[in-house]
Amino acid sequence: MPRLIIDTDPGVDDAFALALAARSPEVDLLAVTTVFGNVGLAATTHNALRVLALCGREDVPVAVGAARPLVHPQPREATAAHGADGLSGRAATLPARGRGVEPVDAVTLMAQVLQASPEPVTLVPIGPLTNIALLLAAHPGVKPKIDRLVIMGGGLSGGNCTAAAEFNLWCDPEAARRVLVVEDLPTVLVPIDLTYRCAVDNHWLARLAATGPIGAALDSLTGVYRAHYRESMGFDGTVIHDAVAVAEAIRPGILATTRLPVAVETAFGPARGSVIADRRLTSFADESGARPIDVALDTDLDALRAFILSRLS
Ligand code: BDR
Ligand code: CA
Repeated sequence: MPRLIIDTDPGVDDAFALALAARSPEVDLLAVTTVFGNVGLAATTHNALRVLALCGREDVPVAVGAARPLVHPQPREATAAHGADGLSGRAATLPARGRGVEPVDAVTLMAQVLQASPEPVTLVPIGPLTNIALLLAAHPGVKPKIDRLVIMGGGLSGGNCTAAAEFNLWCDPEAARRVLVVEDLPTVLVPIDLTYRCAVDNHWLARLAATGPIGAALDSLTGVYRAHYRESMGFDGTVIHDAVAVAEAIRPGILATTRLPVAVETAFGPARGSVIADRRLTSFADESGARPIDVALDTDLDALRAFILSRLS
């Protein structure tokens, strides 16, 4: 049974991703940790608690993580995509959770849970990588307890936040470089090149809404989000980026990966926060220090959508 820790900044697609893990009986959701990102840390934490409450998961500990990036300030939040409260203005309609946050911070909780786990754990970061960089820097001794990282982030063919950069990596490029390039843990990167192809249409959402109160509540969170993607990307569908990564964490191999050396741009300029993947068949020694990781570039799209729908229903 996969054992998961999800690090998240909810966020509409994070809400779908959390619900997917919370409602999948074949996984052990050991902890949820929160980070700044789509909106501020207080709101992302509030939203994570409420989504877990919606799913009836009082048992999952939640701890609060970083309020800002490691080095440079976050240039802007993603309120245009997710709404001022992170959930299309609907956060307050979700049930409150009786159990609040743990008395320890996110990094401490992750370290404690990893140390206590008899089996290796999959870390699933679906927001900026700040908490994960801090964990690996402060507690390198827990690395043998991490079987792999399944990270939603990056765009090999351009960005969604800037022309070059995807939002999660762009929020904290220094942390992203530490986790993706400097560290040596087995890593699956789930970039927007694939998550856009996995978008669900209005018919899929209508089917979800008809399954019951949880499906209806999730569907109700998508208003601002759908409008934003339609206007900014010309994309008529709901892009459940983070749920695609969580699906891979729940069912290893549901995404098809290609091993590619990757680097992260940390210099200031138009490419800051972008991921550079070397797709040449023969790569020559270079100075970028790129590290080979598994990049998820394909899946059976209909099977993936059916899997997510069945778990959320
Ligand atoms: C990522 O950025 C956030 O807005 C989403 O929640 C997702 O994690 C997609 O680029
Ligand atoms: Ca996210």
